[in-house]
Amino acid sequence: MKNLLKMSDLSPAELTHILDVADQLKADCKAGRTAPLLAGKSVALLFSKASTRTRTSFEVGVYQMGGLGNYMNTAELQAGRGEPLRDTARVLGRYYDCAVWRTYRQRDLEELAELSGIPVINGLTDYAHPCQVLADLMTIRERRGTLAGLKLCFVGDGSNMANSLIVGGLLAGMQVSCVCPPGYRPAADVLIFAHKYGNAFHLTTDPAEGVRDADIVATAAWNTTAPGTAESEQRLRDFVGFQLTGRLLENAKPDALVLHCLPAHRGEEISTALFEQHADEIFDEAENRLHVQKAVLAVLLAGMMAWAGANGRLANAPQEIMGALLTPFQKAAQLLGGGVNGLLDKYVRIDQIIAENEALQQENQQLRDQLVEYDQLAAENKAFRDLLNIREENPQFQYASAFVISRDPLDRFGGFTIDQGTLNGVEKGDVVVSDK
Ligand code: CP
Repeated sequence: MKNLLKMSDLSPAELTHILDVADQLKADCKAGRTAPLLAGKSVALLFSKASTRTRTSFEVGVYQMGGLGNYMNTAELQAGRGEPLRDTARVLGRYYDCAVWRTYRQRDLEELAELSGIPVINGLTDYAHPCQVLADLMTIRERRGTLAGLKLCFVGDGSNMANSLIVGGLLAGMQVSCVCPPGYRPAADVLIFAHKYGNAFHLTTDPAEGVRDADIVATAAWNTTAPGTAESEQRLRDFVGFQLTGRLLENAKPDALVLHCLPAHRGEEISTALFEQHADEIFDEAENRLHVQKAVLAVLLAGMMAWAGANGRLANAPQEIMGALLTPFQKAAQLLGGGVNGLLDKYVRIDQIIAENEALQQENQQLRDQLVEYDQLAAENKAFRDLLNIREENPQFQYASAFVISRDPLDRFGGFTIDQGTLNGVEKGDVVVSDK
């Protein structure tokens, strides 16, 4: 994992690792012994939109881990006065070890990752909100002890939160249902991804059906445009019946969790009563943004994934020496060349080589199969050429369509001859020839 741009950047194992690391960092934080995993590291915190949780949890998280987090409102950078993204990206890549960006277009985030050359984390785009969904999954696992097999239902707009919850839930082995009004479906590529999970995914426009027997029901604001605008009025009409209420939750399991990524628009996507009834889990969810994002930073910048991979689950490590254990690992990685990230690159490269090798072997087998076919074709071709040669050299056989030759079992003629058996397949008008 080099960036966190969307949930599908993660394998199921990487997702579990991040949640394990997050649990550990949360326990460390509560015990007041957070390891300085980001000592000497700088993180650019770029915001092109308003934020409370994402901004502050990253600022506090980087600080707790001993790094420098620089908040930047992109409107106040030269980018806000027209400096191209490709230039901003190349500059930031030379100062910072990592960048977090909240922006609109996913493609812009990808461009920042490509051109800056540093790990980039999605702080929310129109397409995805992976940090929020990691916090949601952490919260569910904390309260239920597992993710696999639980039914997660999202009710709302099929945009960033729906896209990321669908992918994240399915990667974690959950049953996922998504309830959106007509015209507000999740992204096409997310639906294609979900289709591969068969019955584990269900898309519907019926809230009661989607929520049925759910272990977790999640929603997010769907009316973020300015009040009174045409779009806002349209959304208020389109989302009638899609509010999470106590009545709707009667369809879910009796102890179902309710999650909301916040900010909440009470009376729109959730009723005030239901929000307050589930405030405990909703604010745990908000708190977990801090811990899970620290885990993402630890994995991306401190080699935590490689360390956890080499030494087993992070949760098994003695916490007092966690930071000290990292140092020898980083040194070993440097000896191997390129530091921790260089070592990870090598692992990735080895995986690529193995995959390329398998692909080449398959291609090789296909070529060998083709050669067998070519040999057969060549043999047929030769027989045909022999026929043509015989016709050419023997004008009396110019109309021959078949030459049947068999070997005399007694070899009376010292070569080939014709017997009755071979004549059985000969049609009237054929000319039968032997070489004698
Ligand atoms: N949930 C979330 O991303 O909150 P903020 O918009 O406050 O960052």
